Amino acid sequence: MIKISPSILSADFANLGQEARDMDAAGVEMLHIDVMDGHFVPNISYGAPVYKMIRKDFSRIFDVHLMISEPLKYVEDFANAGADMITFHVECDSDIQATIDKIKACGKQVGLVLKPKTPASALKPYLDQLDMVLVMTVEPGFGGQSFMYDMMPKVKEIREMITATGKDIDLEVDGGVNAETAKICVENGANVLVAGSYLFKQKGKYAEAVATLR
Ligand code: DX5
Ligand code: ZN
Repeated sequence: MIKISPSILSADFANLGQEARDMDAAGVEMLHIDVMDGHFVPNISYGAPVYKMIRKDFSRIFDVHLMISEPLKYVEDFANAGADMITFHVECDSDIQATIDKIKACGKQVGLVLKPKTPASALKPYLDQLDMVLVMTVEPGFGGQSFMYDMMPKVKEIREMITATGKDIDLEVDGGVNAETAKICVENGANVLVAGSYLFKQKGKYAEAVATLR
């Protein structure tokens, strides 16, 4: 089954609660929450206190994508703010195994993210402990960038690695996903689609936009 995770980075920040309720009503499985620290990526977005405020406005999974240098330091804050899935970058400065252990100890699902230049092999030591793998299809930091088609062999390779584990691990793609590129992602093995600008620019018709993507 394809799961849709709208990225609120492209939502109207002045009406975040309403945006979350509208996406909830559109039937999406997850809400994608991009946390950026201005250090791991050049941009600063928002932190745990912001998405905590909209926890009541969305009934399903909070899919928190941490683009921060030291995720381990903040795992408890992100967990307590209402994250269900915490996904962090394999390129970060924290100890990867310790961060996975901490997220699990908080009772949350855990995912690892790969930037475009990071090979699939970086996942190997951790793959069977994960609930999700996220492959970036743009350089992380900003919404509205163009989809990197050359990430598809990596998506395919990771789907094969997941199949070999025999486990039910989600494979998510993030960046430049629209009705055309979504299809290519799914053909290569992705089953969770993040979409920011594509969905949130279709104000007033989120249900139709989600249906088209699906
Ligand atoms: C980029 C973020 C994405 C971003 C996607 O660093 O991780 O989640 O919001 O935005 P679109 O779908 O507009 O490329
Ligand atoms: Zn993201």
